Amino acid sequence: MRVLSGIQPTGRFHWGNYFGAIQQYIALQDEDEVYYFIANLHALTTVRDPKELRELTFDAAIDLLALGLDPNRATLYVQSDVPEVSELCWLLMTGAPMGLLERCHAYKDKKARGLRADTGLFAYPVLMAADILAYDADAVPVGEDQVQHIEVCRDLAGSFNHHYGTVFVLPKAVVLENAARVPGTDGEKMSKSYNNTLALFEDPKIQRKQIMRIQTDSRPIEEPKEPAGDVLFDLYSLFADDSEREAMASLYRRGGFGYGEIKKQLADAAEQFFRDARQRRVELAAKPDLVREILGDGATTARKKAGMVLRRAQEACGIR
Ligand code: ADP
Ligand code: TRP
Repeated sequence: MRVLSGIQPTGRFHWGNYFGAIQQYIALQDEDEVYYFIANLHALTTVRDPKELRELTFDAAIDLLALGLDPNRATLYVQSDVPEVSELCWLLMTGAPMGLLERCHAYKDKKARGLRADTGLFAYPVLMAADILAYDADAVPVGEDQVQHIEVCRDLAGSFNHHYGTVFVLPKAVVLENAARVPGTDGEKMSKSYNNTLALFEDPKIQRKQIMRIQTDSRPIEEPKEPAGDVLFDLYSLFADDSEREAMASLYRRGGFGYGEIKKQLADAAEQFFRDARQRRVELAAKPDLVREILGDGATTARKKAGMVLRRAQEACGIR
């Protein structure tokens, strides 16, 4: 099986990105063949500051490596280092129905909010399809919100195959059964667009303060509380094993505690959980040449594969 996924470098990664997506990527890296990339061309639809985009792209690579992505088991590369994907994108674009793309949520949501949308955002799912099809990927681990895009990819590949003969492999989305919808500090879905994130590699002291500021209800300390749906409980559960979660749930049901205590336990658990990754991140950040080399090797491997698929597609549609 060939596994592929990408993540946009549009901000520093947060707990939602990790538990909703990155953790799944890393868990799948022992499959036959694994491709992971940093989607800087997609990020260009939102990040328009070149220095920022360059830094975010490099930081994303360091973060993924620090979190356990192993370049010996997975091919890690930057999307724009494989120009074959952009060429394939055009081939797919010529057969992508407007109506299909108009229904895609990234574009639809922006339009519904009365914001200016450009062609890049509109065609976002087509580039994503090219990202996937260029490698004959079978399985694409993604967060829940990306499943629609994988469906679009399958539609585009299916109609290309129907018209020109079988060129593309139809991929499947892999969503972790219990992929958490991680709440942010305000209880809404954690997202950098809502300014409610807890970053993966935040300074622990700053993160502790952010956790201490999480809004809680003002019920008296003695009152028993229902754990399910409580932001602090849900966040704590990300880091806890079954028995720790159960112990915390009993504490809620018993009452007689202050939220300050829960917050402290949450901050401790998060700090502990990411401790090794944080240490590896410091080491990797001190070796930028090594990171560049890993990305260079990844791009070489990726281009080889994408070049073959692109030629197949070009031959099928008569431009080669
Ligand atoms: P953001 O919402 O902060 O802009 P992205 O859209 O870049 O994050 O998300 C990248 C990946 O992380 C996606 O696959 C998405 O499903 C996952 N993800 C982001 N936020 C969360 C969350 N709060 N809970 C679960 N998964 C999330
Ligand atoms: N759109 C994805 C996200 O925001 C990132 C992405 C780009 C991707 N191309 C991809 C994910 C191809 C999987 C496969 O999370």
